[in-house]
Amino acid sequence: MEALALERKQEQNRELRIRLEELKKERNAIILAHYYQRDEIQEVADFRGDSFLLAQKAAETDADVIVFCGVHFMGESAKILAPNKIVLIPDERAGCPMADMVNVDGLRKLKAQHPNAKVVTYINSSAEIKAETDICCTSANAVRVIESLDAEEIIWVPDKNLGQYVQDQTGKKMIIWEGYCNTHDMLTVKDVVEMRAKYPEAEFVVHPECRPEVVAMGDFVGSTTAILEYCRKSNRRQFIVGTEDGTGYQLRLDSPDKEFHFATKFLVCPNMKVNNLKKLVKCLETMKPQIYVPPAVADKARTSLERMLQVR
Ligand code: 13P
Ligand code: SF4
Repeated sequence: MEALALERKQEQNRELRIRLEELKKERNAIILAHYYQRDEIQEVADFRGDSFLLAQKAAETDADVIVFCGVHFMGESAKILAPNKIVLIPDERAGCPMADMVNVDGLRKLKAQHPNAKVVTYINSSAEIKAETDICCTSANAVRVIESLDAEEIIWVPDKNLGQYVQDQTGKKMIIWEGYCNTHDMLTVKDVVEMRAKYPEAEFVVHPECRPEVVAMGDFVGSTTAILEYCRKSNRRQFIVGTEDGTGYQLRLDSPDKEFHFATKFLVCPNMKVNNLKKLVKCLETMKPQIYVPPAVADKARTSLERMLQVR
């Protein structure tokens, strides 16, 4: 960006941040931001976190308004867990293609074919799918959730990559849906081989939403929070990062003296990035768009999320 344009943008952001603080007080609002959000949003958030932590914060907060800076299913989960709060999202087009890869009819069919199976649903799913679910999980507690179940068979939706990883870790018999994250699934073995040649001293840290053959190359495999914690504590100076690019904000904040190289330039979730600071301020000003979940669906879905929160 040219120097003048950059200065103008910084000035605009300063003004937006002042307005945001006023609106937060007026509305008694809390701002939750996922680690994959733009830096300008993570900078002003009351809490940054992964899907698990943000769901927990939404369930606990005494604010009247939750502004969820993330994608739609995250806002829905907040609304289900805190039905009496207003939940806003800066841009309602922030969806998750993986969440859209599973539908209620397909899941019901699978349940009919396996009547004794327990249904475990990744939080990256719609409220309607959660309403058909025994227990939800995030990547932070997926293995522990599966281990906590006394079931011969498990139906797992919608992420095939995370499902495969969890099955390998637990040895449980799982019927795995064919969904995937368009962003994490883009990372290939070739990308990692090339990065390793370029940075031979670096450790490769990878999210289990990546393809199994890529996950198998990881020096460390874990959820977004687990990757952050690992890099913070590690004595290594260089890392090749196999998760979404927005994580760089927290990684650099935690360890300004370490180097983080994203494993490919394609590790950017376009859905997460449709939110920005301007839209965040506007949604608190107009109190729109609000997340709505039909109460009958929310009531059915809530148990699966509450069970998930019990498994750390
Ligand atoms: P976590 O926040 O659980 O690491 O999930 C990653 C993700 O893809 C969120 O959309
Ligand atoms: Fe969905 Fe993947 Fe984007 Fe997460 S990173 S919101 S799973 S598309």
